[in-house]
Amino acid sequence: MTQGRQYILALDQGTTSSRAIVFDHDGNIRAAAQKEFRQIYPQPGHVEHDANEIWSTQSGVMQEALSSAGLRASDIAAIGITNQRETVVVWDRQTGQPIHNAIVWQDRRTAAFCDQLREQGHAELVQARTGLLLDAYFSGTKVRWLLDNVEGARERAVRGELAFGTIDSWLIYKLTAGQLHVTDVTNASRTLLYNIHTGEWDDELLSLLDVPRALLPEVRSSSEVYGQTAAGLLGAQVRIAGIAGDQQAATFGQVCLEVGMAKNTYGTGCFMLLQTGTEAVPSHHRLLTTVAWRLGEQPTHYALEGGVFVAGAVVQWLRDGLGIIRSSGDVEQLAAQVQSSEGVYLVPAFVGLGAPYWDSYARGTIVGITRGTTSAHIARAALESIAFQSAELLTAMQQDSGASLQQLRVDGGASTNDALMQFQADILGLPVVRPRVTETTALGAAYLAGLAVGYWESEQEIAAQWQVDRHFEPQMSSDERQARMHRWKRAVERSMAWES
Ligand code: G3P
Repeated sequence: MTQGRQYILALDQGTTSSRAIVFDHDGNIRAAAQKEFRQIYPQPGHVEHDANEIWSTQSGVMQEALSSAGLRASDIAAIGITNQRETVVVWDRQTGQPIHNAIVWQDRRTAAFCDQLREQGHAELVQARTGLLLDAYFSGTKVRWLLDNVEGARERAVRGELAFGTIDSWLIYKLTAGQLHVTDVTNASRTLLYNIHTGEWDDELLSLLDVPRALLPEVRSSSEVYGQTAAGLLGAQVRIAGIAGDQQAATFGQVCLEVGMAKNTYGTGCFMLLQTGTEAVPSHHRLLTTVAWRLGEQPTHYALEGGVFVAGAVVQWLRDGLGIIRSSGDVEQLAAQVQSSEGVYLVPAFVGLGAPYWDSYARGTIVGITRGTTSAHIARAALESIAFQSAELLTAMQQDSGASLQQLRVDGGASTNDALMQFQADILGLPVVRPRVTETTALGAAYLAGLAVGYWESEQEIAAQWQVDRHFEPQMSSDERQARMHRWKRAVERSMAWES
C-alpha cells in the first residue's frame, strides 16, 4: 500500500446522478456522496445532460465524500473513474466550454441515420470491427449529429479546435484543468469508431460517420497512471489511475475474472456482461461484443453484453411520471400489496428496445389492465419488467457463448430489492447471488486504479474480497415460468415499431 495514502476514491458518473465513494484497503465503503442532476428532454426521444452540471455535481460529491469521512486529498492513493457510457460531449479545447448539451446514450435522434447506414449495407463491417450494431445508442452518430447541427462545428472540428469525449474524457479534462484528453479502451469500444481487435480508431469508420480524427481522445488502458488532478483542485494532487465504462467496471468489481462469469447490474438501465477472456466472441443473437478491460500492457479482455435501456428508470417513471410513489424506495411496499400483477404486463420501451430486439421505434405499453387493476399491480408489473428483460438477455447470452451459467451475480441500486431478486431467480430458473458490496461499479473503478498504483498487489488479492450477501434460489415451476415468459413476449410484440 502507498505510505500515508490509505484510500481509493471512485467517481461514478451515472445517467441520473453523480456519485463519489471512498474505499478502504478491504474494499469497504468509508464514505459516499451522491447528487442527482437534470434530465433534459427537448422533444420526445431526445435526452440531454448539461455537461457543466455533470462536472459541478461530480466535483461537489467528490469534495463531500472526502469531508464527510474527515479525509484530505493527501489520504487518497488514486482516483478511479467510471461513467455512463456512449454519452457524447464536444467541447472547445481553448475555453473548455461544451458546444452543446451532452447527448445521452438513451437519445434516439440518429435512429433514421442508422436505418440509412443499415440499408446501405454497412452493418456487417461495423459489427466485425466494433462488435456493435448500427443503433442510435452508440456515440458515433451522435458526434456526427453535433458536427452537422451546431453552427460552425464541423469546420472547427477539422481545424482541431474541438474535442470529443465520452463522460470519462470530459471528467479527466476537467480534473486536470485541460491537461489530458484521453479515454480508455472500454469507453472507446462503445463509440462505433474503434476497432476492438486492433485497438485503434478506425479510419474507414471515421469516414463512414464523417467524424474528423482531430476530435478524438487518446485511447489508454483501463488501469494505468494517466496523470494527476490539477494543483489547487483538491488541496493535494492525486493520481488518476483507472477508467472504465460503468458496466465494465461493475464486471471487474464483481471480480468476474474467470472466463464465463457473468453479472447483471440494475441501474437506470440493466446490463448483463459475460466475460469471454482474451477472445472477442461474435454474437449471433444481437448481443454486443465489447472490451471488458485492459490492465496496463496486458492483453485486452472481452465480454458479451446485453443491455436493456429502461430498468431502474421505470421506477423513476412511477415516481415522476405517474406519481404513484413518493420515493423510489416505496415501490417495493406498493408492489407487495398484491400477490401478483394479475395479468398486467408493462413494457418500458420508453426509448425503444435494446438487446435482443434493437427497435428504436418501440414505445412503452401496458397490457392486461382490467377494472380491478390498481397502482399496486402497475408497480409490480413495472418491477417484473426488469426481470423479464434480463431473462431475455440471459437466454441470448447462453446461446451465443454456449456456456450454461450456474449463477448470476447481481448489483446496482435495484439489486437490494429482495422481492425483485427473488422474481429474477424464479423467471431465470437460476440462482441469483448478491454480494455484500452492491456498489460494484464504483468498486471496480477503485480496483482498476488501486492495481495501477500498487495499492492492491494482484487480481487474486481483490478476488478474495468478494463476499456473498444473499443467494436467491428459483422457486417457480418451469411451466409457470414458460407461461409468464410467453405472455411477456406477446406484450413486447405490442410495443414494437410503434413510432414508425
Ligand atoms: O450504456 C449505458 C450505461 O453505461 C448506463 O449505465 O448505470 O447509468 O444505467 P447506468
